[in-house]
Amino acid sequence: MSTVAPKPIYREANSGRIVEVYTSPTDLFSAAARKVAEIISECLNRKQSCAIALSGGSTPKRLYEFLAKGEGGAIDWKRVHVFFSDERNVPPEDKESNYRMAKESLFATGAVPASNIHRIHGEFSAEEAAQQYEDEIKKVLGNDPVFDLVLLGLGPDGHTASLFPDSPALRESKKLVAANRVDKLKSDRITFTYPLLNRAEHVMFLASGPDKADIVRSVLSGEGDYPSQHVRPNKGELLWMLDKDSAGQYIEHPSH
Ligand code: 6PG
Repeated sequence: MSTVAPKPIYREANSGRIVEVYTSPTDLFSAAARKVAEIISECLNRKQSCAIALSGGSTPKRLYEFLAKGEGGAIDWKRVHVFFSDERNVPPEDKESNYRMAKESLFATGAVPASNIHRIHGEFSAEEAAQQYEDEIKKVLGNDPVFDLVLLGLGPDGHTASLFPDSPALRESKKLVAANRVDKLKSDRITFTYPLLNRAEHVMFLASGPDKADIVRSVLSGEGDYPSQHVRPNKGELLWMLDKDSAGQYIEHPSH
């Protein structure tokens, strides 16, 4: 790990969110790893254990590799419960599985005790998996679960977790975890809902690369009505960590 923390080339902190932009993907993931370690350390100074939720897709894999190697700074994983903010309705060994991606990156070094890894059972029906997962979250975090950190990605259509545009789970106001039919993907998903996401102490969106530039600009500028725009922590911190490619259009005309 480089001992010098990457500095953002752009930062804004207003309208209830923080936006940081880094020169390169490497700087972005290095800074994100440090931020994750900092959040966990701060949490463990206050509590015996903490709980984080990983996002899926491809973007965070490098972050997880950095974290596995301790590049963000030492993390006492024995005191960290690791969950997932969504999952595809597939078995854990499926190449589409978010758990599999994490297993090949964050969990590859064995630093996270197996008993602290809480995967979504994508091999069950989506409904069963969602119910089982909500029960597991409550078993570990109590009946009013609050995640210390939720990592999220951003899809080109503005979805986050598995909250896709025009999908039924967008309207879920009671369940904390829901099955969600994504017609355009002809698939079912299991996802955190807004009630759970918006209780988090910290929510960190990560987006990298030029193909996210359009949607990042729209979402951060408040244009349109995208699922990711409805992630607004009730009391927690909302942080967007981007690289120059994904934030290029937004920082030309920031919306503050
Ligand atoms: C998933 C994710 C999803 C992801 C975005 C971005 O299960 O796919 O949770 O919300 O974060 O689709 O995916 P990429 O990082 O692959 O662009």
